[in-house]
Amino acid sequence: AAIDGILADLFARLGDRQDQLLPVLHGLQEGAGYIPPERVPEIARHFNLSLAEVHGVITFYHYFRSEPPPRCVIQVCRAEACQSMGADQLLEHAQAALGCGLHGHTADGAFGLEPVYCLGQCASAPALTINEAVFARVSPARFDALIAGVLADDAR
Ligand code: FES
Repeated sequence: AAIDGILADLFARLGDRQDQLLPVLHGLQEGAGYIPPERVPEIARHFNLSLAEVHGVITFYHYFRSEPPPRCVIQVCRAEACQSMGADQLLEHAQAALGCGLHGHTADGAFGLEPVYCLGQCASAPALTINEAVFARVSPARFDALIAGVLADDAR
Protein backbone atom coordinates (compact mmCIF):
# COMPACT_ATOMS: atom_id res chain seq x y z
CA ALA A 1 0.00 0.00 0.00
CA ALA A 2 2.89 2.34 0.82
CA ILE A 3 4.28 1.64 -2.62
CA ASP A 4 0.92 2.55 -4.23
CA GLY A 5 1.13 5.96 -2.61
CA ILE A 6 4.76 6.50 -3.53
CA LEU A 7 4.15 5.61 -7.18
CA ALA A 8 0.96 7.67 -7.46
CA ASP A 9 2.77 10.66 -5.99
CA LEU A 10 5.74 10.27 -8.34
CA PHE A 11 3.51 9.88 -11.40
CA ALA A 12 1.52 12.97 -10.42
CA ARG A 13 4.59 15.06 -9.69
CA LEU A 14 6.81 14.02 -12.59
CA GLY A 15 4.29 13.40 -15.34
CA ASP A 16 4.58 10.84 -18.09
CA ARG A 17 7.28 12.17 -20.40
CA GLN A 18 9.71 9.34 -21.01
CA ASP A 19 12.65 11.38 -19.75
CA GLN A 20 11.00 11.17 -16.33
CA LEU A 21 11.42 7.39 -16.15
CA LEU A 22 14.75 7.64 -14.31
CA PRO A 23 13.51 10.20 -11.78
CA VAL A 24 10.51 7.97 -11.08
CA LEU A 25 12.71 4.91 -10.61
CA HIS A 26 15.02 6.86 -8.31
CA GLY A 27 12.07 8.15 -6.31
CA LEU A 28 10.61 4.69 -5.99
CA GLN A 29 13.87 3.19 -4.82
CA GLU A 30 14.35 6.02 -2.34
CA GLY A 31 10.85 5.65 -0.98
CA ALA A 32 10.43 1.89 -1.05
CA GLY A 33 14.06 0.78 -0.86
CA TYR A 34 13.86 -1.13 -4.13
CA ILE A 35 11.99 -1.47 -7.44
CA PRO A 36 9.47 -4.28 -6.94
CA PRO A 37 9.46 -6.31 -10.19
CA GLU A 38 5.66 -6.65 -10.03
CA ARG A 39 5.35 -2.86 -10.39
CA VAL A 40 7.37 -2.68 -13.60
CA PRO A 41 4.33 -3.28 -15.89
CA GLU A 42 2.52 -0.35 -14.30
CA ILE A 43 5.56 1.89 -14.76
CA ALA A 44 5.94 0.79 -18.39
CA ARG A 45 2.25 1.54 -19.07
CA HIS A 46 2.53 4.97 -17.47
CA PHE A 47 5.40 5.95 -19.76
CA ASN A 48 4.03 4.12 -22.76
CA LEU A 49 7.18 2.00 -22.89
CA SER A 50 7.59 -1.74 -23.31
CA LEU A 51 8.37 -3.97 -20.33
CA ALA A 52 11.73 -4.76 -21.91
CA GLU A 53 12.62 -1.07 -22.15
CA VAL A 54 11.92 -0.39 -18.49
CA HIS A 55 13.60 -3.61 -17.42
CA GLY A 56 16.64 -2.64 -19.52
CA VAL A 57 16.97 0.68 -17.70
CA ILE A 58 16.64 -0.97 -14.28
CA THR A 59 19.30 -3.57 -14.99
CA PHE A 60 21.65 -1.09 -16.69
CA TYR A 61 22.08 0.96 -13.51
CA HIS A 62 23.62 -1.12 -10.76
CA TYR A 63 22.18 1.31 -8.27
CA PHE A 64 18.68 -0.10 -8.69
CA ARG A 65 17.77 -3.14 -6.66
CA SER A 66 14.96 -5.54 -7.46
CA GLU A 67 14.65 -7.00 -3.99
CA PRO A 68 14.13 -5.33 -0.63
CA PRO A 69 17.35 -4.20 1.04
CA PRO A 70 18.48 -6.17 4.10
CA ARG A 71 16.83 -4.84 7.27
CA CYS A 72 20.23 -4.39 8.88
CA VAL A 73 23.29 -3.37 6.86
CA ILE A 74 26.70 -4.02 8.41
CA GLN A 75 29.71 -2.31 6.85
CA VAL A 76 33.10 -3.61 7.93
CA CYS A 77 36.02 -1.22 7.45
CA ARG A 78 38.58 -2.64 5.05
CA ALA A 79 41.04 0.25 5.03
CA GLU A 80 44.62 0.12 6.24
CA ALA A 81 44.46 1.01 9.92
CA CYS A 82 41.64 -1.45 10.50
CA GLN A 83 43.42 -4.13 8.46
CA SER A 84 46.45 -3.81 10.70
CA MET A 85 44.23 -4.22 13.76
CA GLY A 86 42.45 -7.40 12.76
CA ALA A 87 39.78 -6.28 10.31
CA ASP A 88 40.37 -9.40 8.20
CA GLN A 89 39.69 -11.67 11.16
CA LEU A 90 36.68 -9.56 12.07
CA LEU A 91 35.31 -9.85 8.56
CA GLU A 92 35.91 -13.60 8.51
CA HIS A 93 34.15 -13.91 11.82
CA ALA A 94 31.23 -11.79 10.58
CA GLN A 95 30.83 -13.91 7.46
CA ALA A 96 30.87 -17.14 9.46
CA ALA A 97 28.55 -15.79 12.17
CA LEU A 98 26.00 -14.45 9.71
CA GLY A 99 26.43 -17.17 7.09
CA CYS A 100 26.78 -14.73 4.23
CA GLY A 101 29.59 -13.33 2.12
CA LEU A 102 30.79 -9.81 1.51
CA HIS A 103 28.34 -7.89 -0.72
CA GLY A 104 25.82 -10.55 0.22
CA HIS A 105 22.90 -10.85 2.58
CA THR A 106 21.53 -13.55 4.83
CA ALA A 107 18.89 -15.83 3.35
CA ASP A 108 16.15 -14.26 5.49
CA GLY A 109 17.09 -10.76 4.33
CA ALA A 110 17.86 -9.70 7.90
CA PHE A 111 21.55 -8.80 7.48
CA GLY A 112 23.65 -7.51 4.62
CA LEU A 113 27.43 -7.33 4.73
CA GLU A 114 29.36 -4.63 2.87
CA PRO A 115 32.90 -3.27 2.86
CA VAL A 116 33.60 0.34 3.68
CA TYR A 117 36.85 2.28 3.42
CA CYS A 118 37.69 4.21 6.59
CA LEU A 119 35.11 5.43 9.06
CA GLY A 120 37.38 7.97 10.73
CA GLN A 121 37.97 5.58 13.64
CA CYS A 122 41.52 4.57 12.70
CA ALA A 123 42.81 5.16 16.25
CA SER A 124 40.19 2.73 17.57
CA ALA A 125 40.34 0.09 14.87
CA PRO A 126 38.81 -2.18 13.78
CA ALA A 127 35.58 -0.36 13.10
CA LEU A 128 32.24 -1.15 11.53
CA THR A 129 28.80 0.35 11.14
CA ILE A 130 25.43 -1.19 11.86
CA ASN A 131 22.67 0.68 10.05
CA GLU A 132 25.01 3.66 9.86
CA ALA A 133 25.86 3.76 13.57
CA VAL A 134 29.64 3.52 13.98
CA PHE A 135 31.27 1.07 16.41
CA ALA A 136 35.01 1.00 17.11
CA ARG A 137 37.39 -1.58 18.63
CA VAL A 138 35.11 -4.37 17.53
CA SER A 139 36.44 -7.77 18.55
CA PRO A 140 34.70 -10.89 17.27
CA ALA A 141 33.06 -11.29 20.70
CA ARG A 142 31.81 -7.70 20.57
CA PHE A 143 30.51 -8.34 17.07
CA ASP A 144 28.43 -11.23 18.40
CA ALA A 145 27.10 -9.03 21.20
CA LEU A 146 26.16 -6.27 18.74
CA ILE A 147 24.31 -8.73 16.51
CA ALA A 148 22.52 -10.21 19.51
CA GLY A 149 21.44 -6.67 20.36
CA VAL A 150 20.02 -6.10 16.88
CA LEU A 151 18.13 -9.39 17.04
CA ALA A 152 16.77 -8.54 20.49
CA ASP A 153 15.57 -5.16 19.17
CA ASP A 154 13.94 -6.90 16.21
CA ALA A 155 12.10 -9.25 18.52
CA ARG A 156 10.56 -6.36 20.45
FE1 FES B 1 39.12 1.77 9.47
FE2 FES B 1 40.04 4.29 9.35
S1 FES B 1 40.89 2.52 8.53
S2 FES B 1 38.35 3.51 10.42
